[in-house]
Amino acid sequence: MTVYLVGAGPGDPELLTLKAARLLGAAEVVVYDRLINPALLSLAPKAELIDVGKVPGLPLGQDLINALLVHLASEHHCVVRLKGGDPFVFGRGGEEAQALAEAGLDYEVVPGISSAIAAPASAGVPVTHRGLSAAFTVVTGHRGTKDGPAIDWDALARVGGTIVVVMGVAQRADIAASLIVGGLSPDTPVMVVRNGTHSDQSDLRTTLSLLGSADVESPATIVIGAVAELDLRHDRDATDRAHR
Ligand SMILES: C[S@@+](CC[C@H](N)C(=O)[O-])C[C@H]1O[C@@H](n2cnc3c(N)ncnc32)[C@H](O)[C@@H]1O
Repeated sequence: MTVYLVGAGPGDPELLTLKAARLLGAAEVVVYDRLINPALLSLAPKAELIDVGKVPGLPLGQDLINALLVHLASEHHCVVRLKGGDPFVFGRGGEEAQALAEAGLDYEVVPGISSAIAAPASAGVPVTHRGLSAAFTVVTGHRGTKDGPAIDWDALARVGGTIVVVMGVAQRADIAASLIVGGLSPDTPVMVVRNGTHSDQSDLRTTLSLLGSADVESPATIVIGAVAELDLRHDRDATDRAHR
């Protein structure tokens, strides 16, 4: 009779928490999203698997998913709602928790490693770094929608530190232009990582003025700020040393 709102982490199955793995093993039903690594589903051998992955542009209402969770919770002891990254970081896990609470049902949130931090890290970029960035802001690239207030990009440009943009690929040119108007240098370093921590991860480094024309596809996380110039990947260091 409990729904576990579980973070699946950014992609690499080894970045799943032990608690998430245990719950998947016990689950009778797993309701999962588009961005989870399908390999994780093999950890739930007893479970009925329900794909509610929302394809961008094709609406699969959140209300329907909420209703499904409420229905499943009244029929099963252990329901896992498996969401990419962390369920409460742009994951709409909060809305699902509210729906379950309103229905008087038990739920528990199991945090996951968010792509907002893990995707940059897997491309060698720390979101904070002494002397370069003392803060980071995670922001959605969806602009001025019915989902909430528009982002104040001028204010963000003034905050300083690192700006991490998720769901920003389609709007990247507008975002870059807004930040430049807000005062960031057109030469501000930018790093974009696609499918971070997955086996097909790719990343590119550019600048704010060139971000709009950069060849980038979703799902990607965009990192804007001085740290985006760093590449602290262990393998990269080893390669560099070997060539010294
Ligand atoms: C709906 S948000 C969900 C974020 C998720 N809850 C989290 O904490 O990572 C989806 C966006 O997260 C980013 N994202 C998710 N997984 C990613 C990955 N493996 N690599 C890069 N970006 C990723 C992309 O910007 C994608 O459009």
